[in-house]
Amino acid sequence: MIYNSGKIYTGLIIFVLFITFPIWYNHLDAGTLPDPQKVENAKECVAPVAEMKATHMQLLNQWRDDVLRDGDRAFNVEADGKMYQKSLQKTCMKCHTSKKKFCDTCHEYASVTPYCWDCHVAPVEPAAKGDMN
Ligand code: HEC
Ligand code: HEC
Ligand code: HEC
Repeated sequence: MIYNSGKIYTGLIIFVLFITFPIWYNHLDAGTLPDPQKVENAKECVAPVAEMKATHMQLLNQWRDDVLRDGDRAFNVEADGKMYQKSLQKTCMKCHTSKKKFCDTCHEYASVTPYCWDCHVAPVEPAAKGDMN
């Protein structure tokens, strides 16, 4: 029978937490992951969110090609029959009202810089306190 088992176990737990610190600390540190701004005036995106996360670049290219090559500006959402205009500025950015707080948070994390904004106009960002950009 170990006389002092309580103390030993406490010591062991502290030791394990200590040596695994780098592992769980990184997983709990949400600050390093992108946190794109939520949409307030709508519940659904133009496609299921998981699909949007993975393929929004292809969708945008598709929309651009449809508009520029075929003059087709109408986009129909299959599931609920909603109509959207195929437009970065007039559709995407009507719901996702901040390029900086939405698009950029992920893109900075993923180290991509889409050149779209060389020509397309991003929504005007409201000046925020402590915002140095
Ligand atoms: C009618 C409003 C609306 C429109 C238009 C819209 N979205 Fe969304 N989008 C949403 C909502 C709601 C979500 C779910 C996340 C949330 O609640 O903010 C979302 C999610 C996303 C996500 C995943 C975000 C995440 O947190 O993982 C991406 C990427 C995205 N949208 C890109 C686009 C692009 C690109 C367009 C234009 C082609 C677009 N959206 C048009 C409302 C919209
Ligand atoms: C949930 C995170 C997330 C959000 C929000 C998001 N993107 Fe992206 N986007 C990515 C990732 C990750 C890539 C890189 C994908 C790859 O390399 O395969 C990317 C790539 C792109 C590309 C292709 C760029 C290139 O150089 O390949 C375009 C265009 C793009 N995003 C447009 C947008 C626009 C416009 C918005 C805002 C309306 C937006 N994205 C919001 C994650 C996001
Ligand atoms: C050299 C300038 C330029 C660049 C860079 C550019 N575009 Fe465009 N884009 C245009 C012009 C001009 C139109 C035609 C506008 C119209 O007829 O409504 C257009 C139309 C579009 C359309 C359909 C119409 C609309 O209102 O949005 C989409 C979607 C689009 N572009 C997406 C993109 C994306 C995504 C990128 C970045 C990967 C990008 N564009 C980069 C100039 C550009």
